[in-house]
Amino acid sequence: MITKETIDQIMDIARIEEVIGEFVTLKKRGANYIGLCPFHDEKTPSFSVSASKGIFKCFGCGKGGNAVNFVMDHEHFTYPEALKFLAKKYNIHIEEIIPDAEQQQAIDEKESLFNLSAFAQKYFSDTLNNSEEGKSIGLTYFKERGFTTDTIIKFGLGYCPNKWDDFTKHAQKNGYQKELLLETSLSKLKDGSLYDTFRARVIFPIHNLSGRVLGFGARILTSEKDKAKYLNSAESEIYQKSKVLYGLYFAKSAIVKEDNCYLVEGYTDVISMHQAGIENVVSSSGTSLTIEQIKLLRRYTNNITLLFDSDAAGIKAAFRSTDMILEEGMNVRIVLFPEGEDPDSYAKKYRPAEVREYLDTNLVDFISFKTGLLYKETKDDPIKKAGIIKEIANTISLIPDPITRTLYVQKCSSLVNVDEKILHIEINKQRKQKLKEQFRREDNESNAEAEVEVIMPPEQLKPIYNSEYQEKEILRVMMQYGLNEISFTFKDEDNKEIEEHIRIIDFMADEIGGDDIKFENESYQALFDIIVASRNNDTFTGENAFLHNDDANIRDLAIELLSSRYSLSDQWKTKHSIYVNKEVDNLKQNILGILYSFKLKKLEKMITDNQEILKSTKDPEGIMHILTKDAKLKRKRIVLAKQLSRIVTK
Ligand code: CTP
Ligand code: MN
Repeated sequence: MITKETIDQIMDIARIEEVIGEFVTLKKRGANYIGLCPFHDEKTPSFSVSASKGIFKCFGCGKGGNAVNFVMDHEHFTYPEALKFLAKKYNIHIEEIIPDAEQQQAIDEKESLFNLSAFAQKYFSDTLNNSEEGKSIGLTYFKERGFTTDTIIKFGLGYCPNKWDDFTKHAQKNGYQKELLLETSLSKLKDGSLYDTFRARVIFPIHNLSGRVLGFGARILTSEKDKAKYLNSAESEIYQKSKVLYGLYFAKSAIVKEDNCYLVEGYTDVISMHQAGIENVVSSSGTSLTIEQIKLLRRYTNNITLLFDSDAAGIKAAFRSTDMILEEGMNVRIVLFPEGEDPDSYAKKYRPAEVREYLDTNLVDFISFKTGLLYKETKDDPIKKAGIIKEIANTISLIPDPITRTLYVQKCSSLVNVDEKILHIEINKQRKQKLKEQFRREDNESNAEAEVEVIMPPEQLKPIYNSEYQEKEILRVMMQYGLNEISFTFKDEDNKEIEEHIRIIDFMADEIGGDDIKFENESYQALFDIIVASRNNDTFTGENAFLHNDDANIRDLAIELLSSRYSLSDQWKTKHSIYVNKEVDNLKQNILGILYSFKLKKLEKMITDNQEILKSTKDPEGIMHILTKDAKLKRKRIVLAKQLSRIVTK
């Protein structure tokens, strides 16, 4: 492991504009440099480098970070590889300390799994492109499917020969041990000897987010009924299929650019769509969609479009995925393909422009999709119609945001011709039911048997206390502008106006620390504590302190926060057309806005928590106490809401 001293030295000496300048043509523009972003396609520069802060940021695709992050992303280096690259550039001698045995073993194990996977990928693709068998069988197959040479190379496709152990032997000759071959499931054991798992199959390598191979899908070329069409790598230390999306590495920047991701069913769908020029596409190959995969996509966009086959299995899968995506608070739309077609077969039959047109003209939101399909089955049978309404209400009830829910209720109401109120009642019933179940589960865990009676006005069933945006914004502002001062004027006893200046960082520390409010997100709280504790150190220089912090978690968090795609102020800007000036000009207003809305959320939660206690309180004195507190909190809420509205409408 590289020592902290060396890392500091690299950070001190490396000039970000020089490092990036090696890969991107930068022009000086004011205090910063700008250029064309290397992470997404663009014609006008939105990629900006700040030499003084030592960070880069693309306002097009949102990528950002320091010099090390740039090299990691651009060259697909690991953290140590990136440090070594910079050390070499600046002639810095690298001092390494030896990690303890356990650390080293974990690093080595993963690294050797990655190494073997890369080795195997190279073997499979060499075999496909250069061996007789590979060319006549594998390559012919891909060409027949319409894959071009460029596509085959881009996705690293390959072929494993129809021999018992050709690959295994080759790997062993190159020093890869039996255990490793079994762990990656590239080889299997039969009667004491190893054989190639993927023999006589074409190979689709699966990449991680930085482009390293972590597993494979392998398709059979014959139609033997007793053999699986696809074999996939087994789970390993580096490959957990529920956390991987096929094609994401190649799709990342297009997803951000289009602010949408197409989700398809298989490897070939991803590849054919790419070839048709549609690059924002991934597949959950080998599993049905998981929550982890949805969360992975949320880093890049809030919009997912499902592309499904219109057979019964496809529709069922689409229904299930729809519910999961909505539950994560994301938007989902659906395109169904004609019976018997998938994106791959469609893209093979039609020209790219026609594929695009099909996607655009057949795009429906989930309400229309569900209603349309379910209606087809019922033909105005009133009992069945009631069933459908319940079904759709159930899906809407999963959406966490009440405003979005209301919009869908309106839409659904006009589609199925049912009063909005009835839908709301049904949705609230279902939300209440879910909440009850949740309570009961939690209750069971603490083994209390009592039935929980939930009495809450509708629409308040699950208020949104989520203060993640505000927490993020508070930290961002503290890091970015912490040392700037804001001023307040007030009158002293003699009615004389006094102006007081206070550093933003101290102001926030007083306001939040003083009120003893805690962040919902634990890592944000940790970062907040660190910022507050270090604010009087000489070394504290705002955001730099955290971007270059030697704790990798803090560093990642700081980068994430500083480059969050939508800051609260952006949202407000569009919603209320305020904050039209640059952020710095409105710093004080911005900060108060964020702070007050954060406090308001917290207060809201305290009020509900308090009311929750009321339900289980029996003694009159206790009840009085809770009610007094309730009134006090509510008075505070009025004051805060007033303060906030003054700021927002200023
Ligand atoms: N799949 C799998 N194991 C199988 C069958 C399918 O892992 N035995 C996964 C593969 O990731 C596959 C996806 O499910 O890509 C969709 O399956 P299917 O539609 O049958 O395959 P296609 O991708 O359409 O493959 P092809 O066009 O070559 O038939
Ligand atoms: Mn197919």
